[in-house]
Amino acid sequence: MHDFRPTAGAAKPDLYADLLSAADALTAGERDGVANMANVAALMWDMLPQVNWTGFYRLIASDTGTELVLGPFAGRPACIRIALGQGVCGTAAQSGETQVVADVHAFPGHIACDAASRSELVVPVLRDGAVIAVIDLDSPDLARFDAGDAAGIEALAALISTRI
Ligand code: SME
Repeated sequence: MHDFRPTAGAAKPDLYADLLSAADALTAGERDGVANMANVAALMWDMLPQVNWTGFYRLIASDTGTELVLGPFAGRPACIRIALGQGVCGTAAQSGETQVVADVHAFPGHIACDAASRSELVVPVLRDGAVIAVIDLDSPDLARFDAGDAAGIEALAALISTRI
């Protein structure tokens, strides 16, 4: 059993330090990317307050082009395929830049997978300078995510980029 619950009331940098150390412990010795994404999605779900979806979309190339495809996650069932440039996830994947969205209803093209979601954080996962996936977090609270959350999830993305 793994019990990685952070200290109650921990400051945000401490919370993300705990999350990173738990993610490192869970993924360092495992070479299966799906298993590692599944555990990281579960860790984010378990350790981060006020989230209603935590997970991955992977950049997949096919005959018809490159798109995001749903990966391991925690939360309600979600849309499976997202075109580059579409929604918050597709914008992050296309630009390679973190998206912090305080109000998803104000984001042009936002894709609503869960009507309860009000704010969102999407962080690209880069390997050798190229986007290979995005980490997506949704919250039922407006403006749930700030620069501290973005920095924490960017550090997580860097940690796992060669393990997924
Ligand atoms: N809201 C996202 C779609 C994915 S779900 O939130 C899980 C978007 O606009 O890309």
